[in-house]
Amino acid sequence: MKKAVIVGGSNGIGLAISRELMDKGYYLEICDRVEPEEGILDPACLHYSYCDLTDFDEDVFLPLAGDKDVDLLMITAGIGRVADFKAHHIAEIDKILTIDTLSTIKLFRIFYDRILSNDTFYAGVMGSISGWMSSPATSVYAAAKAGLVRFVESVNIELEVAGTDNRILDVSPSFFDGSRFYGGKNALSVTGPLAVQIVEHLFNRDTRFIPRYEETFKAVLERYHKNSHEYGLHSYQYKKDSGRLDNDKKVKIRYLSAAFDLFHIEYLNLLRRARQCCDYLIVGVIDSDKGKGKENFIPLGERKELLAACKYVDKVVDACPEDSDAWDLWHYDRLFVSFDHKDIDRFSHYQDYFEDKGVEVIYFPYALEADGRQIRKDPVNGN
Ligand SMILES: NC(=O)c1ccc[n+]([C@@H]2O[C@H](COP(=O)([O-])OP(=O)(O)OC[C@H]3O[C@@H](n4cnc5c(N)ncnc54)[C@H](OP(=O)(O)O)[C@@H]3O)[C@@H](O)[C@H]2O)c1
Repeated sequence: MKKAVIVGGSNGIGLAISRELMDKGYYLEICDRVEPEEGILDPACLHYSYCDLTDFDEDVFLPLAGDKDVDLLMITAGIGRVADFKAHHIAEIDKILTIDTLSTIKLFRIFYDRILSNDTFYAGVMGSISGWMSSPATSVYAAAKAGLVRFVESVNIELEVAGTDNRILDVSPSFFDGSRFYGGKNALSVTGPLAVQIVEHLFNRDTRFIPRYEETFKAVLERYHKNSHEYGLHSYQYKKDSGRLDNDKKVKIRYLSAAFDLFHIEYLNLLRRARQCCDYLIVGVIDSDKGKGKENFIPLGERKELLAACKYVDKVVDACPEDSDAWDLWHYDRLFVSFDHKDIDRFSHYQDYFEDKGVEVIYFPYALEADGRQIRKDPVNGN
């Protein structure tokens, strides 16, 4: 049985490509953060694996790369947004480049022996027209996609020189509808025809597919190469006038503080779960609690070093006397607090302090589900 691996196949163009491949008799191995939207694919003809390209886990992909029934890899997972560079938080830059470029290139490395071999293997990825020219107001996304399209272009030469007929297809469209990319809904009536074209190019083992190239993008690219400065100014104004520029903060920042003395597995579980439901986790480390008769075993500097080495932690800071004071410094969106009945007055103060700040207070250690939602009752309000 022929199998296809589609990374990002649960929504958007990935879902449409999945359906097209299923119609062609493929068994699908879909890797994504969420399961495929129900009612579109036959569940008997697919296997879903959870993957999050911000936390790359090669063990998800190694068995698929080693499966001789797999002869196709298509990567459609990707994120980005139309916003001025100044509106990008450092965590958002990290996330866009990690998903769109770094993890994507790692995936090709994992499957590279298959692509490099003389046995037929189909490989492709969603680039973007933004990767082929300057793209003000999507500068980070353009940088991520430019890195990707240059990578594909370069590796295709290596494949040719190595003597295999396999290639990596770069699909570089401009805006298309029918996906969740810009907050919309999956509409296969819109993405379906594009998916048919993409699969055709995959099976031809082509190197590049820019949809609507002859009618539109050939001239656009010529205009860009003739005068990139003028093109850039026009492109920026066009995005601004179209109302697509969205400079709102998009990153979810979480904060938690604890002593983290004698670091143990429960601390790690807490940090992992806290990080899973945010983009940037700031950890405040409490200095020894001498006033309460508790001396820490590990010096503060060493505890901070240990936390900084943990992959779930983005920033380590000295904790403030009150977590509400830390909000003035870090402007977080969600606060995790260790709940203790003795501190009920303190938590009531938090509830009041954060009321008009849009900060959600979550109580741990027992309060977090895998997706970060609270399962325990709010100890202050009892709801
Ligand atoms: N739509 C456009 O106008 C356009 C234009 C040019 C290029 N592209 C490129 O086309 C590709 C697909 O876009 P689309 O419009 O089909 O978007 P989409 O509907 O958002 O589909 C992308 C899929 O990737 C998944 N994904 C996102 N982050 C992930 C992560 N960290 N790990 C694993 N999977 C993740 C998404 O899961 P969640 O739903 O959980 O986020 C979603 O299922 C992207 O690479 C995009 O850059 C899109």
